[in-house]
Amino acid sequence: MGRATSRRRSSCDAGQRRYAHERDGHRGQRRDRGPSIPPPDRLAAHANVGPDVYDEASADRLAFWATQARRLTWTQEWDEVLDWSNPPFAQWFVGGKLNVAYNCVDRHVEDGHGDQVAYHWEGEPGDTRTITYAQLKDEVCKAANALTELDVNAGDRVAIYLPMIPETIIAMLACARIGAVHMVVFGGFSADALASRLDDAGAVLVITSDGGYRRGAPSALKPAVDDAVGRSPGVRNVLVVKRTGQDVEWTEGRDLWWDDVVGRQSTEHEPESFDAEHPLYIMYTSGTTAKPKGILHTSGGYLTQVAYTHWATFDLKPDDDVFWTAADVGWVTGHSYIVYGPLANRATSVMYEGTPETPHRGRWFELIQKYGVTILYTAPTVIRTFMKWGEDIPAGFDLSSLRLLGSVGEPINPEAWLWYHEHVGGGRCPIMDTWWQTETGAHMLTPLPGVTSLVPGSAQHPFPGISAKVVDDEGKELSDDSTGLLVLTEPWPAMLRTIWGDDDRYVDTYWSRFGKNVYFAGDGAKKDADGNIWLLGRVDDVMNVSGHRISTTEVESSLVGHPAVAEAAVVGASDPTTGQGIVAFVILRGNAEDSGDELVQELRTHVGKDIGPIAKPRQIMVVQELPKTRSGKIMRRLLRDIAENRELGDVTTLTDSSVMNMIKDKLPAAPSED
Ligand code: WT7
Repeated sequence: MGRATSRRRSSCDAGQRRYAHERDGHRGQRRDRGPSIPPPDRLAAHANVGPDVYDEASADRLAFWATQARRLTWTQEWDEVLDWSNPPFAQWFVGGKLNVAYNCVDRHVEDGHGDQVAYHWEGEPGDTRTITYAQLKDEVCKAANALTELDVNAGDRVAIYLPMIPETIIAMLACARIGAVHMVVFGGFSADALASRLDDAGAVLVITSDGGYRRGAPSALKPAVDDAVGRSPGVRNVLVVKRTGQDVEWTEGRDLWWDDVVGRQSTEHEPESFDAEHPLYIMYTSGTTAKPKGILHTSGGYLTQVAYTHWATFDLKPDDDVFWTAADVGWVTGHSYIVYGPLANRATSVMYEGTPETPHRGRWFELIQKYGVTILYTAPTVIRTFMKWGEDIPAGFDLSSLRLLGSVGEPINPEAWLWYHEHVGGGRCPIMDTWWQTETGAHMLTPLPGVTSLVPGSAQHPFPGISAKVVDDEGKELSDDSTGLLVLTEPWPAMLRTIWGDDDRYVDTYWSRFGKNVYFAGDGAKKDADGNIWLLGRVDDVMNVSGHRISTTEVESSLVGHPAVAEAAVVGASDPTTGQGIVAFVILRGNAEDSGDELVQELRTHVGKDIGPIAKPRQIMVVQELPKTRSGKIMRRLLRDIAENRELGDVTTLTDSSVMNMIKDKLPAAPSED
């Protein structure tokens, strides 16, 4: 490490610089030891889980998970809780049978809760729909019958490319009900991204809509589907929900209106039981290569852990709470904590279509007030945006219904934690900082309400029944306060089962660094003397932008796909609002002209079109050369220094250190939001 760098950092944080958290100046002061906030007595007395839960789980981990699995309704009990005889290929609740949709919907209706609201849905323009469990059951049955009519069978893949409307959930549950594997693609992804996912998963049906509302205007979805499906011969039909009334292109014979096909079906549908290991869904996520990974989740173990964590982490009281995960169903957070966890627990949830600033910056607080939301689960990037807008906005609404808050997606810096606690939670709501991943399916590290104290900025402890450690490069557990890597040392019920169609990549990516029994999460971490785990950001080439995972390689390969670009290097630079922002350095082809701003805009648009707007670089700089080691590797570390306006670290392994000086003064200012 260069002297200039360590001197500069000593005022903030010493230590190795490989971990994003320690790089990120904006996260400000770290508080490795608190302040520790004890659980409020009243909460402790009534919380769903008590302090014994950790001992109970560690005394017999498998028996503990079996107990949680019994919270679900099985048509056949399992013979074995876990089969780990062929690691890293796990089977949970072997021989057990259940229907996931029945567990999420029908059983609550049968138990007399048909009139309970499952979702208070609100569209961005202010239109609303209230859906009870009985209505949800009817809609799911109709959609399941429609899928069967379209010859969708158990095991077939169905792509869902929809905005945040109730049909998204109905479609997911209809798939689960008939054993089809859903693959929800976030509506912000491009036609290309959709096409590659349709192809990789081999989807037979796409469920979409004419569009949705975003930032005050209808935005279209169908054109991207037409483009993508045109390249995916396996897709037989496109089922289209009418949401905005926009004109759509229509391919006769292929395209069908949801209202026509689903509308005419019977509300009766007999749920079939599926094996605990029957595939439930695929969710694509970025890895360190350009090709996204199809993370496969299965039925029994997944539902067990999402349901139990939702109940324990959020202290969910089905008769009293109004629960709101303010995230998109297109991400795993939405799958586990808008759909499966809350429904399995018979929660009443809020679902909102739009962004926080439309039509005004108090929109979310208005919804909390209107529906009496008691539990709010959202991401640090949103909280930092609220901080930027100012505390007067939440102060203008009655947020007294809130009793518990959650955070997910990236480390929450103590400043944001304290602001959230005070200005949203009124100083009375504990915050659950939940660490988990698309791959883990459900919460893995979190405090527990009424049980643990709270340490702002730390996700704290492995959830009961979960085994996590902080290890060094050799896999040796580290002593307190040393910085290392987070690993999971035992399989867990909601774990991914493989990468769709690529078992080798599954083994290589997650289970090879420390052997086949240790899951490598890709995050840096540190454990303090009180046993709290602090997450320090990704250690691989994955960026975290507003809680979304984007791979540097994916953006680089999009950039070099543009005719003007010869070479590209992409880094994640700390960003006060989004956590990290994407900064690209590009070398133009000999014959390409550097038209300045115009070219930069064109490249940003190109990436947006290739991958999706979230992947548009915040800044792009055109350079003559990239810093490389003698072996030809791009030195991203130095690029990150530049992107973060830091003094440069060690440049001794650089082939030509003058390259850096050339680059240094060129970084254009970050554009304002788009
Ligand atoms: C990565 C997983 C889990 C759903 C949303 C993101 C980061 C997530 C936290 C947290 C620190 C966190 C990690 C992780 N992350 N939650 N509470 N504290 N970091 O899912 O896209 O699969 O991303 O998000 O880096 O590896 P994902």
